[in-house]
Amino acid sequence: MREVAVIGVGIQKWGELWDKSIRDIFVESASLAIADAGVDHIDSMYVGCMSGGLFAAQEHLASMMADYLGVIPAAAARVESACASGGLAMRLGWMEVASGLSDIVLVGGVEKMTDVTGEEATFALATAADTEYEGYQGITFPGLYAMMARAHMEKYGTTLKQLSLVAVKNHANGALNPDAQYPFPVTLETVMNSTLVAEPLRLMHCSPITDGAAAVILAPADIAKKKFKKHPMVVVTGSGHATDTIALHSRADITTIKSTELAAKKAYQMAGVKPEDIDFAEVHDCFTIAEIMVTEALGFFKRGQGGPAVEKGVTALNGRKPINTSGGLKSKGHPVGATGVAQVIELSRQLWGEAGKRQLKKARRGLAQNMGGSGGSSLVHILERR
Ligand code: COA
Repeated sequence: MREVAVIGVGIQKWGELWDKSIRDIFVESASLAIADAGVDHIDSMYVGCMSGGLFAAQEHLASMMADYLGVIPAAAARVESACASGGLAMRLGWMEVASGLSDIVLVGGVEKMTDVTGEEATFALATAADTEYEGYQGITFPGLYAMMARAHMEKYGTTLKQLSLVAVKNHANGALNPDAQYPFPVTLETVMNSTLVAEPLRLMHCSPITDGAAAVILAPADIAKKKFKKHPMVVVTGSGHATDTIALHSRADITTIKSTELAAKKAYQMAGVKPEDIDFAEVHDCFTIAEIMVTEALGFFKRGQGGPAVEKGVTALNGRKPINTSGGLKSKGHPVGATGVAQVIELSRQLWGEAGKRQLKKARRGLAQNMGGSGGSSLVHILERR
């Protein structure tokens, strides 16, 4: 396999982008990535999108985006794995370049979520759970993660304060990210007193509904070294993908994300590293309990120690293992199909030394973890600066 480099990235400010359509935001991010990389063509592209149909009444996205981006007849495929669609697009783009099939591949993600009502958005998202066994019973994603939170609290003594401190930390980081939907700090008191959504989860424990897109350009490292030198060399050294039951009731244990454990194992093995070798990570904090469970599943902390780690400041920007330096899904926003790609952008910027006010001092190896639904699919990528 060939070594694959990230040579350019593009993203716009996320939020409620009512004056732009799904194609506008995708083309905007993709054009920024193409300009950043300095490529004059792309061979192929992947578009991560969970539900263009339910959110924006638009399917057949890959060809549409290729057309409006001005790259037809390039090969283009829309990729879906619920909220992990962007991470899966990254893996497929990486595979295509690593295999030698294509040289210049655009990996993008997009979701336009605010053109429907809140109720319709909640329904669209809930189709990523098991519709017959969960959706028909009235369960939604805040409800599913609330059950996971309750179980984790019961088993390990994880506290509401720890769930809330994840939001405080991620908003503090997001306040340094001009692209974030909610770029402001919040206090522990504000989080703990915010509106109850699904006991024990409150509004400020939830990621928001977001419009946004993101794109990265991948190329073989040997070509990047000669032709695309705008940024320092950053390469993908590990990629892991695993699945689990999408229904929570079919799992032996709902206090851990098994698909993340397995995807991480594969990525660590490929990169030849261990959890302690990772300097920082972007993880899927769709609800703050998810960040705690994921940092345990990635092996950063023992089971039950994810909450205490947040409380001790280990995962803060200046901590030993910074998590979600971008602000995470909580503050940056969560346009579901774009999230996994935006995680790779944050990793690249940190590794290039181009993360602005949130730049880490030690950033040589980063990890991105993106998951679908309540963990029915997980993607893990490891990126390193050469
Ligand atoms: N964090 C912080 N503020 C939020 C927020 C969030 N997650 N969601 C909404 N807000 C703010 C809005 O900006 C608005 O502020 P304003 O009154 O100052 O304008 C206010 O809260 C009310 O917004 P509204 O859109 O009416 O909220 P809502 O009650 O319809 O939706 C949630 C709130 C939490 C239910 C919704 O954001 C949600 O479903 N999040 C989870 C998304 C999800 O499941 N993603 C997939 C994960 S697997």
